[in-house]
Amino acid sequence: MRQRADALLQQMTPEEKVGQLSQLFLFTKPDAAMESRIAKGQLGALLFVTDPSLINHLQHVAVEQSRLHIPLLFGFDVIHGLRTIFPVPIAMAASWDLDTIERAQTAAAKEARAVGIHWAFAPMVDIARDPRWGRIVEGAGADPYLGSAVAAAQVRGFQGAYIGAPDHIVATAKHFVGYGAAEGGRDYDSVDLSDAQLRNVYLPPFKSAVDAGVGSIMSAYMDLNGVPATGNRWLLHDVLRGEWNFGGFVVSDANAVNDLETHGFAADKADAAMRAFTAGVNMEMALTKDAYDNLPAAYKAGKITSEQLDAAVRPILETKIRLGLFENPYVDEARAAQILGATEQKNESLRAAERSAVLLRNEHALLPLQGANNRNIAVIGPLADSKRDITGPWVFVNKEQESVSVLEGLKQVAPQGTQFNYSQGVQISRKFPSFFDAIFGGDKTPVWTEAEQKQEFDKAVQTARSADVVVMVLGERQNMDGEAASSSSLELPGRQQELLEAVAATGKPVVLVLMSARPLELRWASKNIPAILDAWYPGTEGGVAIANLLYGKAVPAGKLPYDWPRDVGQVPIFYSHDITHQPEHQGTRYWNEESTPLFPFGYGLSYTNFQFSNLHVNHEQIHRGEGLDVAVDVRNSGTVTADEVAQLYLHQQSGTSSRPIRELKGFHRVTVAPGETKTVHFNVDKADLTYWSAATRSWVQDDTRFDLWVGDDSNASLHGSFTVAP
Ligand code: NOJ
Repeated sequence: MRQRADALLQQMTPEEKVGQLSQLFLFTKPDAAMESRIAKGQLGALLFVTDPSLINHLQHVAVEQSRLHIPLLFGFDVIHGLRTIFPVPIAMAASWDLDTIERAQTAAAKEARAVGIHWAFAPMVDIARDPRWGRIVEGAGADPYLGSAVAAAQVRGFQGAYIGAPDHIVATAKHFVGYGAAEGGRDYDSVDLSDAQLRNVYLPPFKSAVDAGVGSIMSAYMDLNGVPATGNRWLLHDVLRGEWNFGGFVVSDANAVNDLETHGFAADKADAAMRAFTAGVNMEMALTKDAYDNLPAAYKAGKITSEQLDAAVRPILETKIRLGLFENPYVDEARAAQILGATEQKNESLRAAERSAVLLRNEHALLPLQGANNRNIAVIGPLADSKRDITGPWVFVNKEQESVSVLEGLKQVAPQGTQFNYSQGVQISRKFPSFFDAIFGGDKTPVWTEAEQKQEFDKAVQTARSADVVVMVLGERQNMDGEAASSSSLELPGRQQELLEAVAATGKPVVLVLMSARPLELRWASKNIPAILDAWYPGTEGGVAIANLLYGKAVPAGKLPYDWPRDVGQVPIFYSHDITHQPEHQGTRYWNEESTPLFPFGYGLSYTNFQFSNLHVNHEQIHRGEGLDVAVDVRNSGTVTADEVAQLYLHQQSGTSSRPIRELKGFHRVTVAPGETKTVHFNVDKADLTYWSAATRSWVQDDTRFDLWVGDDSNASLHGSFTVAP
C-alpha cells in the first residue's frame, strides 16, 4: 500500500497532490468547472452525491480522464442509515447493546456502499452534557465509558473487519474535539475545557475509535480553549498522531478551514490553509471555494516541504487503495436499486428501534396494553401520524412514504376490531427556521389560523373523552434536534403541555410516547401521566416498533444515556460529578428545586422485575496493573422474558486527584426468562483504574481503596469494594 501510494506521489504535481486534499459539496449536478477540475486530477473527494449513476459518471471522469487515473472518494453523512433509517444515534446508545449498534451501522454501510458512497461522516462521538445542544441527537450521550464502547461498535459496523471489507465504508470519528461542550449549549459556540476534562471525558471516545481502526477523523468547528480545533496542532498532531499513532487522515468540518479567518485566528485564506495544513488537517471539506487552493503556491514559495505535502496526501491515497477503488471504481446501479430499503435492513431497523426505547414510567402496569380493555384508542399529538419526524434529523435520501408513523404502526399491530381515532391537536414549529429546511425544503403544511387552532385542540380533547385509552405522541419535530438546532428550553414546544394536561383532565388513562432526542421537561407528566415511553426518533419502522412495545410484543429495555434534568436550570447535570464540599447537601443545592435529576443516568423500566444479588469481587486486594472479576446474579421475578442492562460503577476513595462520586466501568445487556437467574461478570482492569490527573499532569493509577456498585441504573446500591496496593 505504502509503495503504491509512494509510486503515485512520485509522479504527482503539487496541484494534483493538493487536489487529493480537496473535497467539495455537490448537491445537484456538477458544473463544467467541477468536471474539468476532476479531469485534471485536482479534486480528490466529493460529498452529498448519492445517486449511483452520477457517482459512476463522475468516477469515469476521474479514472479515465485524469492523468494518473486516481478515483474520487465519495463521502456522505450516513449518520443513521441511508435509505432505511435507523433510530438516531442517541437512541442506539440507549440500547446499551453493542451488537445491535454494530449491526445497524453494518446495514447502513451496505446501502451506502451499494450506491457508491465510500466514506461516512460518522460516528459522532462527542460527549454531550448539555441537552440544549441540538447535536446531542448524534452522539452516545454524557458518559465517556458508554461513549467509547458505542464509538468502537459503530466503527466496526461501518468498516467491517478492515478498511476495504466488501459492503463496508470508511468511518469518521467527529468532531475532534470538545464540540459537545459549546457554551450555553449554543451550536458552534466556543468551548473551554480543562485538560482533565479533555483527557478523562471528551477524548476517550475518539481514542476508542482510533483503537478500533477508524479511517478518518473530522476536526471540529469551534475554538477550544482559544485555539480553533481545525488549527490546533497539539490536538491533531501531538495527541492524535503522536500519542495515539493514528494512521488515517483528518478531514476538516465543512468550511472549517476558511473559518479560521472568521475566528480571528488566521489573517486570510492563505494563512488559514497553512494553519490547518501544518496543524494536521489532511483534507479540506470546502463548500465551494477552498482555502487549500493556496497550498501549491505555498509549496512553491518553500513554506511547506515536499515531505510535508506527501505525508498529508499519502493516507488519502492509501485509503483509496485499501478500498479497492483503483481496481473497482464503479458501482452496479441495478444491484444498488435492489439493496436500498431491502427487508433485511428494515428488519434490523425495527429490531434496533425496539431495543432503544426507554420506559420511563408505568403505573399500575398500564403497559403493555391489554387489547380486550382497549377497544377504542385515541391517538393524539403533532407527531402521532408524522412519517417525516419519526426518522429524525440527518435524513436526506430516504423515501418518506416508506416510513411507518405511530398511528399506522398501531393499526398494523393492534388486535382486530380495535378502533382508532386520530387527532393532531396542536401544530409545532421552530421560531427560527433551520438551514436544512432551506436547502432540502422544509414542511409546506399551512399554519393553522387561530380559529383552527382552537377547533383542533378541542377536537383532540373530545377524541380523548370517547376513548378507552389515549396514546399521545409529543415531543420535538425532527428539525428541532441536530445541527443548528439548539434550544434554550427543554419544555415541550408549542401548546403540547397544555394539550397533555387537558387530555389527562378527561380522566382517561394516557400513554405518553415521547419523540425527541433531548430530555424534555417532564416534572408534571412524571407525576400525572401513568405511562411514559421515550421512543426517540426510531426510524423507518418506528411506528411498528412503538406499537410492538405498547402491546408487549417487544419488552422495553433501553436505559438513559444521560441524566434527565428536572428543569433546564439544572443543566449541566450528570451523575459522575466530584463529591466536593458538603455532600450531605448534594440533593438540596438549590433552594427552589431538588438538585437530583428527574431520572438518573442508566435508568429504564421493563414489563418484568429484576433483582440483583450475590455480588462477588474475586480479589479483596490487587496490585497496581492487575485486574479483577466482579460477578452478580440477575433474576427475573416477573412473568415475561426480558432484557436487563447490568451496570457496574466504581469510585476511588482517595488519590492524586479527587475522583467522581461514581463512574460507569462496565455493562452487559442480558436476556433473562421468567424465574431464571443469570450470573453476569465484569472485568475491571488497569485502564478502568487509571485517569489523567491535573495534579501531576499525567496518567496515574493510585494505590487506594475503591467502592463499587452494581445494579440497573447509576443509583445502584449493591455495594462491594477492593484495594489496589503497589
Ligand atoms: C457540518 C457538520 O458539522 C458535520 O458533522 C457534517 O459531517 C458536515 N457538515 C457535512 O455535512
